Amino acid sequence: MKNDHQTDEPGDQEVVIRVRDLEVGFGERLVMKKLDLDVYRGEILGFVGPSGQGKSVLTRAVLGLIPKRSGTIEVFGQDVDKLSTERRRGIEQRWGVLFQQGALFSALTVRQNVQVPMREYLKLSDRLLDELAMLKIEMVGLKPDAADKLPSELSGGMIKRASLARALSLDPEILFLDEPTSGLDPIGAGEFDELIATLQRTLGLTVFMVTHDLDSLYTVCNRIAALGDGRIIAQGPMDRMLASDDPWVRSYFHGKRARAATAARH
Ligand SMILES: Nc1ncnc2c1ncn2[C@@H]1O[C@H](COP(=O)(O)OP(=O)(O)O)[C@@H](O)[C@H]1O
Ligand SMILES: [Mg+2]
Repeated sequence: MKNDHQTDEPGDQEVVIRVRDLEVGFGERLVMKKLDLDVYRGEILGFVGPSGQGKSVLTRAVLGLIPKRSGTIEVFGQDVDKLSTERRRGIEQRWGVLFQQGALFSALTVRQNVQVPMREYLKLSDRLLDELAMLKIEMVGLKPDAADKLPSELSGGMIKRASLARALSLDPEILFLDEPTSGLDPIGAGEFDELIATLQRTLGLTVFMVTHDLDSLYTVCNRIAALGDGRIIAQGPMDRMLASDDPWVRSYFHGKRARAATAARH
C-alpha cells in the first residue's frame, strides 16, 4: 500500500499541540533541550527517534504526567500550566492515550477497562456505560465476547485493541499512541495501522504516534518528526525525511530495514 495522503507542510492548519522551548530533565540529565513541536489538527504525526531519547517523556510531559523545567505546552490553544482544575479536566476529556506499558488494569475485564475513563469523567447510568463500552469494543474490531474477558485471556493484538477502545472511551479529539504496534507480528501490526487510519478518518482524530515501525510511518503517517539529543532534528512528510542529511535520520530511513519496508511496497 502506498501512502496516498501525505501532504506538504501544513500551512494555515490549526495547531492543536504547540510545544515551545521545552526542557525536561531528571537529576543531572536534561532529556528535552528547548524542544519545539507543532501538531496539526487532523494529522497523524509519527514521532521517531533512538530508544531512550525521550519520546515517551515528551508524550508524558504533554499529558502533564511529568513536570517540565521550562518552556510552554499549549493544547487546543490553552497553556496547560495555567489551567484551573476544572479546565484541565475539560482538556483531559478531549484526549485519549494508549501508553507504551501497562496498558490495561489486569483485574478488570475489557468492558470495565473501557469504562474507567467514563466513570471518572462522566455521570452515566450503568446501562448507558455498558452500551457505550460495547460500541467502543466493536469500533476497534473486537468481538462482543471480548468484553467479559480479562487482559490475561487476550492475545497481544487484542490487548492493543482493548487499550485503544479505552483510549477512545471519551470520544477524544487527540489520540496519543506510544509504540502501538510494538510486540505485534507484521500482519497484526499492519491491521492495527489500518484500524488507526480508518478511525482517524471516520472520527476526524488528530493522532500523535510514537513508533519504531517503518511500515506505520510509510502507510499511515502524514508527517514525521524525529527526536535527537533533546530536540527535533528533522520533520515533514516522508520525502522530507528521506532527503534529510542528519546521520541518524539517514541511517534510519535509508538503512537495511528501511530498504526492506520500501521494497515491500513496490
Ligand atoms: N520518571 C523518570 N525518572 C528518571 N528518568 C526517566 C524517567 N522517565 C524517563 N527517564 C529517562 O529519560 C530518558 C528518555 O526515556 P523515554 O522517554 O522513555 O525514551 P524513549 O524515547 O525510548 O521513549 C531515558 O534515559 C529514561 O531513562
Ligand atoms: Mg518510549
